Amino acid sequence: MSQDQQKRAAAQAALDFIEPGEIVGVGTGSTTNFFIDALASVKGKVDGVIASSQASADRLQALGLPVLDLNRTGDLSLYVDGADEANAHLQLIKGGGGALTREKIVASASRRFVCIIDASKLSDHLGSFPLPVEVIPMAQSLVARKLIAMGGQPELRIDCTTDNGNVILDVRNLDLTDPLTMESQINLLAGVVDNGLFAARRADVLLVGRDDGVNQMTI
Ligand code: 5RP
Repeated sequence: MSQDQQKRAAAQAALDFIEPGEIVGVGTGSTTNFFIDALASVKGKVDGVIASSQASADRLQALGLPVLDLNRTGDLSLYVDGADEANAHLQLIKGGGGALTREKIVASASRRFVCIIDASKLSDHLGSFPLPVEVIPMAQSLVARKLIAMGGQPELRIDCTTDNGNVILDVRNLDLTDPLTMESQINLLAGVVDNGLFAARRADVLLVGRDDGVNQMTI
């Protein structure tokens, strides 16, 4: 199977987690786009969706799915999203598409987070993918210096403004052996909005598209 076929298979498998009449949280990215397309084929089953980015909201709306406001829906039962990297503890690096803050908000509001990935995203130790950090623009240099002091190599993502009007620093070389601690340490830096480590709110279910089908991992 190609990588796209693996992504599509994982996305299709996530449909099984939807209960009729619920509001589903929907992430961002190419794997999630396969999920959005699959969701559109059963759109009568859901009462609406919460989107983690403007790009996903536009795609959902174009396919006729009602996009709702999280401030009006309250907690959700299900969130479906991709990831850039995942370990066996279902901790993730996300934010390759720049939507990490809204993704973490919707994941936090959801009782179950089903993460859909292709097999290339699985790794023994998080850190092959540079960690995205969303930063308020005036703090860009300050935060970059602090991240260097923490051992990281930050690089400003070019031509990227997040849906929240901020910039992204992609950080290599951080020691992510304790993702939970690193997630909170980075978020303590003044000017950081959030970072792409999903350890405090990791996935509950990981659906991994492989050559021989979809493998389900849980915690
Ligand atoms: C966007 C994300 C995506 O889930 C992540 O980048 C994976 O994307 P793709 O499914 O295109 O590989 O976190 O901010």
